[in-house]
Formats: sequence, C-alpha cells, structure tokens
Amino acid sequence: MGLLGRKMPDGSINQGECSMKKWQKWLLTGMVSLLAWPLGANASTAPIVIKFSHVVAVDTPKGKAAEKFRDLAASYTQNRVKVEVYPNSQLYKDKEELEALQMGAVQMLAPSLAKFGPLGAKEFEAFDLPFLFNDFDALHKVTKGPLGQTLLRKLEPKGIIGLAYWDNGFKQMSANKPLREPTDFQGLKMRIQSSKVLDAQMRAMGAMPQTMAFSEVYQALQTGVVDGTENPPSNFYTQKMHEVQKYLTISNHGYLGYAVIVNKDFWMGLPGDLRQQLEKAMSEATVYANQIAKQENDQAVEAVRASGKTEVLTLTPAQRRLWQQKMMVVHTQMEDRIGKELIAELHRAAGFDAGR
Ligand code: LMR
Repeated sequence: MGLLGRKMPDGSINQGECSMKKWQKWLLTGMVSLLAWPLGANASTAPIVIKFSHVVAVDTPKGKAAEKFRDLAASYTQNRVKVEVYPNSQLYKDKEELEALQMGAVQMLAPSLAKFGPLGAKEFEAFDLPFLFNDFDALHKVTKGPLGQTLLRKLEPKGIIGLAYWDNGFKQMSANKPLREPTDFQGLKMRIQSSKVLDAQMRAMGAMPQTMAFSEVYQALQTGVVDGTENPPSNFYTQKMHEVQKYLTISNHGYLGYAVIVNKDFWMGLPGDLRQQLEKAMSEATVYANQIAKQENDQAVEAVRASGKTEVLTLTPAQRRLWQQKMMVVHTQMEDRIGKELIAELHRAAGFDAGR
C-alpha cells in the first residue's frame, strides 16, 4: 500500500490523497454498474448447473434414472436448470465424490447405501445386512416408509439432503470357482464396498474382504488382486466382469441400492419455484428407477448367460439355508456399529424372519 489515505507521521490525514481515493471509488462504482447491466441480463438466462456424478455405466438402473432426472429437470424448469450427468467415475471415484459433494464441486450424487460410513452416517450400512430383505416389497416397506425418511434426515447435519431412494437390486456372488457351499469361500479375497457390514459378511463366510473403489474392480479381478466379488447383475454385466469371472452364483443374499443426495447449501439456495420443479422431476425419476431396476437386472443375468463366458449357478434351497446360517451372525455382530434398536426396527419394517 502506498501513502494514499494513510495517517501521516504527524497524525494528520493526507487530504489530497483522500479526495483522490473518493474519485477513484466513484469511477470504479460507475464502471461496475455499467458492466453489471449486461452481466445481469446474461445471469438471468444462464441455466443453473447441477453436476450429477456417479460411478456406474449409463446402461444401468442408476445410469438411466440419472438421465431421466436430467431430462425431466430441463423440461419442468424450462431449461432454467441444466443437469450434467457424469457416469462411470468420469469425475470422481467412490470416496472422492462424497468429498466433492461436501465441498460443492458437484451438487448431486447417488452413492450406494453401503458407502455412507465415511460420511459418518453408518446407519445406512444396515441395508447391507445379509438376507434382510426377502424381496423388493420388503425393501420398499423401509425405503418408502417412515424409517427410510428418518434415515435420510440423519444426513442433514453433514451438510447433505437425501432426496430419494433408488433401487438397484439383489446381489450375486462371483469367483473363478463355483461358490455353492460356505466352505467354497474359504481364503478367497473378495472385493467389497466400504461397508463394515459387508466386511463382517465376507468374514462370516471365511473369505478375506478387500475394500476397493468400484472403478478398480474389473482390473483387480483380471489381474487376480481379488478372486471374486458381489454385485447386482446389472453392474456385473455392464462392467464386463463376466469376462474375468468364471462363475456367478444367484444367491440374492443382500441388497444394493442408492440414496440420491444433494449439497444442502446449494439446494436450499435455489429459488423456491425451481426447487419445487426439481422435486417433482426427482419423484418421477424415482418411480422410473424403481420400475426398471428388476427388469434391468433380470436382463443382465440373461446377457451374462448368453455371453457363454460365465457359468450362472443357482443355489439349492438347502445350500441357501447354509449361507443364511453362516451370515446371520452379522445381524448381532453389527449391533454396536449400527444400533440394536435400528436393526430391530428394520427387522420389523421388512418383516424379517431369522428362521426363514
Ligand atoms: C459398488 O461399488 O459395487 C456399487 O456401489 C456401484 C454402484 O454404485 O452401483
């Protein structure tokens, strides 16, 4: 800083410099107002951009639902909001995308419920409890009921708003050896998402869980860094895991789905009318996601079969019971992490029967 407007050593203010400062200020204000007119005009027409990042392929339930939301949002807001969808970990991998959302580098994500632990919302890992949901109806009793809403509200203190649950489907297990009996898992390195429930589930089967970002799974399977993995068929097929896994066991032992989440400051800062239109777009995209999820996964199993590269195995009822018996311990092991009461509430809402 020069001498402008500074207190002089004798205590007086340098008046000449002060009036020069005033003059400069007026000039600057005038220039800013002149510039602001065209800028303001542009700002009112430039769309608000929502960057929606996700890690799966476009041709999956989540990939398609994200595009549906993009299209509905454009139509309901008359292009005042532009949703840019970035699939396939193009922008960020699993953990990074959560950090990016909190920092406001992206505005919307739909991570799997197994990935909320690093946000400090480990309750969502309850959805990973093995054999918790018998079918989509049981799952929807939770995701469309009060318990599902209570869980979403737990995200708010983290600066995140949970808008909706989107289905994917029931997980199947793959490896380069047939997985029929629990003993077949002994010593296998199995890739999991970051959930501690999934860690406990693999250990209960005698396997060694390896947490890994979704974008790294294909290569890890190909190079033998891991021996096998679990995922719904839509992810298995669209990531081409059938090229690097010899067997896929249809076990339906657990569920994988998503919560669509937004940065809270961004969402609450939107003009109210736009937010309402986006909420409408989201609720229709959610209906669409949940309508296509089962069919997408059924078709993916058929595509895996047709590829001739992976043999699709089905468990006998007796084998399935053995898997259940082995994995059931996880429900009690995880009481400390997730909360005994929450697990009991989930059991009630889902109509869970430990003996089935
Ligand atoms: C996974 O990491 O296996 C899944 O969460 C990927 C996804 O988003 O479906």
